[in-house]
Amino acid sequence: MIDLKDEFPLDRELIYLNHAAVGVWPKRTSDAVKAFADENMRQGATHYPQWMKVERELRGRLKWLVNAASVDDIALLKNTSEGLSLVAYGLDWQSGDNVVSTDQEFPSNRIVWESLKSKGVELRLADISGDDPEGSMLDLVDENTRLLTVSSVQFGTGLKMDLARLGRVCRERGIFFCVDAIQSLGALQFDVQAIHADAVVADAHKWLLGPEGLALFYISPAWRQRLKLHQYGWHMVERLGDFDASQWSPATSARRFEAGSPNMLGIHALNATLSLFQEIGMDEIETALLQRSELLMATIEHDDQLELLTPSLDGRYGGIVTFKCCQMDDAGHADLYRNLMASGVICAHRAGGIRFSPHFYSDTSQFEKLWQIVQKTTRL
Ligand SMILES: Cc1ncc(COP(=O)(O)O)c(C=O)c1O
Repeated sequence: MIDLKDEFPLDRELIYLNHAAVGVWPKRTSDAVKAFADENMRQGATHYPQWMKVERELRGRLKWLVNAASVDDIALLKNTSEGLSLVAYGLDWQSGDNVVSTDQEFPSNRIVWESLKSKGVELRLADISGDDPEGSMLDLVDENTRLLTVSSVQFGTGLKMDLARLGRVCRERGIFFCVDAIQSLGALQFDVQAIHADAVVADAHKWLLGPEGLALFYISPAWRQRLKLHQYGWHMVERLGDFDASQWSPATSARRFEAGSPNMLGIHALNATLSLFQEIGMDEIETALLQRSELLMATIEHDDQLELLTPSLDGRYGGIVTFKCCQMDDAGHADLYRNLMASGVICAHRAGGIRFSPHFYSDTSQFEKLWQIVQKTTRL
C-alpha cells in the first residue's frame, strides 16, 4: 500500500494546484536524481551500461503509458515543441495544403504550423467554444487538409477533446493526426492505438511529475520511416555504438529522431516517477484526479459570484479547472492571482481567469482554505 504522504512530502503551507504548468516531483524521483548526482560525483560514468538499462526501462514504461504497440514507436526528445517541429518539417508539403487546428492551442502547437506559411501551407483554426468542438474542427477539413493537430486537453479552458472521433476521421481520409498530449499524460488514461494517432508528444514536467527537458514522442509505424530527418548524429544510427563503421543508416526504430547523447539525468528522474504511476495504475490516478476537479468545479458552480470556464460535462474535462470572478476585470484577476500565490496557493492566471490544476495526490482537506482566500479577495 503506497502512502501518498510519504511519496509527496510537499511543504504543508503550500496548496499546489499548478500541475498544468510545472508539476511536483515524488520523493522517489528526488531520491533518484540525488543518487545519480552522487554516483556521477564519485564514479563518473563507470556504470554506463546500468544507465542504459534505466533508459530501456523508461522506454518500456512510456510504451505502457500510451499503449504503444512497441517501444520502437517511442523516441525521447527535448520537449513538446521539438516533437511538433519534427512532424511539421518531416512532412513533404505542397503549396495549397492546409493544417486544421483550434483557436485554443498553446503557442507551441500554433507557431510551428504558422511557420509553414512560407511553403504555401495554410493554418485553419476552428473556434471550439461551442457545443461540438470536434465538429467545428472537422468542418474546416477539405481535400487539401494534410494534417490535423490538437491538444488533448486545452491549457486554458481545460476542455478535453474527443480524440477518438478526430482520429477516426483522419484515418478514413488519410490525414496525419498529431496530438499535443502534455495536458493529459500522467493525468488521464491514454491509448495511441484507440485514437489512431500518428504522432503524440508531451514533455515530462507537468502531470508526468518529471523534469523539464525530456519528452515522449510517439510516432506510428506507418509514419516513422516517412518523416524526413533533419537532425543527425551518432545516436540515431541503426548500429548504435559501432564507432568505427564508415557506413550508416538511420535506426529503423523511433531512435532515428534522437541525434545525440540522451538526457540521462532526466531519464533517471522520469523512470522513477513512472514506477510510481505503474504501481498505482493510470485508471486509479485518473479517477482520483477527476474527483478533485469535480470538487473544485462544484464549489465554483454553487457560487453565483464565480463563473466556471471549464466545461463540467462528463468526458469534457481533465485536471484543469479555470474560473472567473463575475465582477472582476483582468487586472482584478491578476490581483487575485497574486493574492493566492502570496498565500501559498500555487496556481496560474490563464484564459482571463484563475486556473487550478490539482493532481491525484492533492489533499482535498486543503481546498476549504483555498476558497476562503478566493472569497476574501473577491468580496473585498
Ligand atoms: C498544451 C501545451 N503544449 C506544450 C507546452 C510546452 O511545450 P514544451 O514542452 O515545448 O515546453 C505547454 C506548456 O504549458 C502546453 O500547455
